[in-house]
Amino acid sequence: MLNTIGVIGLGVMGSNIALNMANKGEQVAVYNYTRDLTDKLLQKVEGQALTPYYEIEDFVQSLEKPRKIFLMVTAGKAIDSVIDSLVPFLETGDVIMDGGNSHYQDTERRHDGLMARGIGYLGIGISGGEVGALTGPSIMPGGDREVYEKAAPILTKIAAQFKGTSCCTYMGPKGAGHFVKMVHNGIEYADMQLIAEAYTFLRNNVGLSVEEIAEIFETWNEGELKSYLIEITAEILRKKDDVTGLPLIDMILDKAGQKGTGKWTSMQSIDNGIPTSIITEALFARYISSLKEERVRAEVVLAGPSSTQPNLDKDMWVEYVRQALYMGKICAYAQGFTQYKMTSELYNWNLPLKDIALIFRSGCIIRAEFLNVISDAYEKQPTLANLLIDPYFAEKTKDYQSGLRKIVCEGIQAGNALPCLSASLTYYDSYRTGSSNANLLQAQRDYFGAHTYERTDLAGFFHTDW
Ligand code: 6PG
Repeated sequence: MLNTIGVIGLGVMGSNIALNMANKGEQVAVYNYTRDLTDKLLQKVEGQALTPYYEIEDFVQSLEKPRKIFLMVTAGKAIDSVIDSLVPFLETGDVIMDGGNSHYQDTERRHDGLMARGIGYLGIGISGGEVGALTGPSIMPGGDREVYEKAAPILTKIAAQFKGTSCCTYMGPKGAGHFVKMVHNGIEYADMQLIAEAYTFLRNNVGLSVEEIAEIFETWNEGELKSYLIEITAEILRKKDDVTGLPLIDMILDKAGQKGTGKWTSMQSIDNGIPTSIITEALFARYISSLKEERVRAEVVLAGPSSTQPNLDKDMWVEYVRQALYMGKICAYAQGFTQYKMTSELYNWNLPLKDIALIFRSGCIIRAEFLNVISDAYEKQPTLANLLIDPYFAEKTKDYQSGLRKIVCEGIQAGNALPCLSASLTYYDSYRTGSSNANLLQAQRDYFGAHTYERTDLAGFFHTDW
């Protein structure tokens, strides 16, 4: 019997995707560049649903046509070498899918090269970590619609389900799927950093213990902040270190890693004039965190406000923090979805903004109750310029903006760095400023460089002999 799909790359994510496919009734051919990972996977499986191959040609020949091959290989050059090793054995109409975190422009290059040779190529964003890969991730496929249709029955089946609806939807042509995943990760960076700042404030400014904060996060997870990231944060804060018995969080070195997708999100937005200050501040917060040794030295040299014992009314300030976090989240998602909208217009991708919110509701790392309200906003107004001006969010921000102001002001007074909460407030205030100070920038540019300016009352470009 021929296999219905093949998976190449049997690290944790690839193994779990292959197992997920097998669990959903597919006959899966598996191949890894080195034999050890194949053997490790096979030890976990009973029955015949996964068949290992040790030569790429045998792997390809074992697949029913049109062949569908799923790559779960580390992004970068490895993808190109796997593609090169596959192509000699493929035929017109076969489909290669890349399920890793590839840069969307690499995906476009590969897509164009393979499509010119009659081989279909899909760039597929996958979110959900290793558990999601096994039980159902959120899946963001991009490429030719007809090519997608060949893989759709399998992809929709292995994706997470939200109330019976699959969290896999076609995103758009070429690199659209990987682009959607990239910005998902940028939003993830912002969401995580906002949560970290809320935690800092509760601990340093309200003076709560780690256990008390865990309890607050548990309560928040029953309301409008309900999300995977809030849920796991509560669990993280509950965890004790086996060695010392202290909260494990206090034993973890404060140097954040990153693999690049958040950086790509910021770079793409900067290249295309898209304001993503909150996402970018989250990235910079990771960069500055990595300067641990310098920060420790600077702590001794640089002055801050004179320290005082936290003396804030607990219940009132916990509620302000909750409002500030929700406001920050609204602003961060407004930036991410603006990046989707503006890039979609730039490339004529027609990204389905409402569907993006829908498929993020289950399976992915940023899954949250809140995504229902975002999808409602795009349902009502598919061409909405910015989530902030949707009636629901405009009303919400009216109620919560003062909470955010209080937290940012109090945090700054106390000398705490709150980069994403501050950036959220700045974004909110900048976006609602009808007349800004950019007229002065224009005047300065014209003064020193004769760059010209537009006037508020007359059409055309003007220069003044200053
Ligand atoms: C997901 C995650 C996933 C991964 C990133 C995290 O959606 O499943 O985003 O893609 O966890 O690698 O990225 P950093 O290592 O850059 O934090």
